[in-house]
Amino acid sequence: MAVISVSNLEKHYGDVHALRGVSFSVDKGEVFALLGPNGAGKSTAVEILEGHRRRSSGNVSVLGFDPGDSPRAFRDQIGIVLQETAIETELTVKEAIDIYGSMYSKRRPAAELIEIVGLHEKADARIKTLSGGQKRRLELALGIVGDPELIFLDEPTTGFDPSARRQAWSVVENLVALGKTVLLTTHYMDEAQHLADRVAVIANGEIVAEGTPESLGGRETSATLITFQAGDFDADGFPVSDASMTPEGLVTVRSMTPTRDVYAISGWAVERGIELVDLNVARPSLEDVYLDLTRDGD
Ligand SMILES: Nc1ncnc2c1ncn2[C@@H]1O[C@H](COP(=O)(O)OP(=O)(O)OP(=O)(O)O)[C@@H](O)[C@H]1O
Ligand SMILES: [Mg+2]
Repeated sequence: MAVISVSNLEKHYGDVHALRGVSFSVDKGEVFALLGPNGAGKSTAVEILEGHRRRSSGNVSVLGFDPGDSPRAFRDQIGIVLQETAIETELTVKEAIDIYGSMYSKRRPAAELIEIVGLHEKADARIKTLSGGQKRRLELALGIVGDPELIFLDEPTTGFDPSARRQAWSVVENLVALGKTVLLTTHYMDEAQHLADRVAVIANGEIVAEGTPESLGGRETSATLITFQAGDFDADGFPVSDASMTPEGLVTVRSMTPTRDVYAISGWAVERGIELVDLNVARPSLEDVYLDLTRDGD
């Protein structure tokens, strides 16, 4: 069942055409990630789905509601971590969780949330004394205080240290294990790779690719790159035809049959007593594909 369905979503801010016919849907229990450069339209899309911004046109259904109406029953079932939040900074961590919790009919206990996001040492600290990453963790706790069915996370881990990021990922994984649905935006490829069932890449207000992190942009079926330092490389007798050399002196072979080609190349090197320095065999990474997809038309 689709928890979110969006078709032909358009948003204009005066002259700025921020969303240009965006369509996608997210099923119950899925983690869906929007990836895209600054200004692509991610927050605009997410905030329209949350009921925080008005759309210019298009059809949007979230949990069976039109978020433009933003009824109480809708707000009660969604959790939001905005890209930027204004929380009253005189409050303590625990007070903020209690106040935010009082807006929902269901709620998770404050102590449990504080534990989940790793703020136990700061439970009674005023928000203004928290570090950037600690404040972001509190915002994550506030986003799930109402035990929501659907959680919107707009760049949830920006500013987190590596261990806090892992911890946040496990918070998201635990939500998914409970059957919740997550719509996430991120600039971190590893985050999308780790968390998302499906990814949509958005650039200039349009979705330019959509798929699993593994298949995005034809990654599954694209050529494998075999590379090594040329040294005094001599193409004479080299067993693979599709080889080229980069200006940095890296021999690069694009291969659709890497098992066979690596075997042939290493056999060739061993016969000649050559050590292939920095030998590497890799598929284009999600980041390679992403950069390709979002490169400005040049
Ligand atoms: N309130 C606003 N008024 C006018 N223009 C806006 C407003 N909010 C966003 N925009 C413009 O709409 C476009 C999309 O912005 P949006 O915040 O959705 O991007 P984003 O993908 O979330 O970027 P980032 O990765 O930097 O968070 C940008 O060109 C931005 O300048
Ligand atoms: Mg944004």
